[in-house]
Amino acid sequence: MIYAGNFKTNHTRASTANYIEELKDKLRGKSLEDRVYIFPPATALDDYEGDFTIGTQNAYPAQNGAYTGEIGLEQLDEFGIKSILIGHSERREYMAETQDKVSQKFAFFQEQGFEIIYCIGEPLEVRENGFEDVMKYLLAQFDGIDINYDKLIVAYEPIWAIGTGRSATVEEISTTHRALKNAINDRPLLYGGSAKPENIKEIKAIAGVDGVLVGSASLDANSFSQMVLS
Ligand code: 13P
Repeated sequence: MIYAGNFKTNHTRASTANYIEELKDKLRGKSLEDRVYIFPPATALDDYEGDFTIGTQNAYPAQNGAYTGEIGLEQLDEFGIKSILIGHSERREYMAETQDKVSQKFAFFQEQGFEIIYCIGEPLEVRENGFEDVMKYLLAQFDGIDINYDKLIVAYEPIWAIGTGRSATVEEISTTHRALKNAINDRPLLYGGSAKPENIKEIKAIAGVDGVLVGSASLDANSFSQMVLS
């Protein structure tokens, strides 16, 4: 299983360092085949050592240059970071990242050999229209994306389940993952959206779920490690 923690705009450099220390300790009990990723805010990126991978929540598709407020490859290379989240619904919505922009970013980091956790997800109104519309919406988020990239991990995160405390149901995750797995040639597929210690066992047991992308419940090292060790 893959367990990825997305801190979003939470934690400081100091609190991330404390978190990592605590996590390192707790991960001693983790199974060898399980993989853990932490995506802290950009100011907390560092070359931490431990049984986990540090990735970036975002970066600009350039080595360096005049891109005010962004970080590029040069800043990631400093810490040996080779994993990135691309296509998160919050960036698509609040930062107005279009499918075009997202796919350009994907192509750049693919070219650089990054491991890419590529996020897709539908809003509530699409879910309410029925499954056919959901799949149409989700598949459109693969426009311009090389689904055969060998370092691709897909994360399905229904927008209505993110940060709401209300995860998708087992049935919803199960049918969506089955259809997505077919579409992405069986690449690893994570579920995200209110995954937490209370529902992790149920989510992990669903066929087609290869792991979870966790927001709120990853912010506390104890809660996140509880999920990893579940
Ligand atoms: P929550 O776990 O807080 O719902 O967030 C999910 C998410 O967006 C992870 O990228």
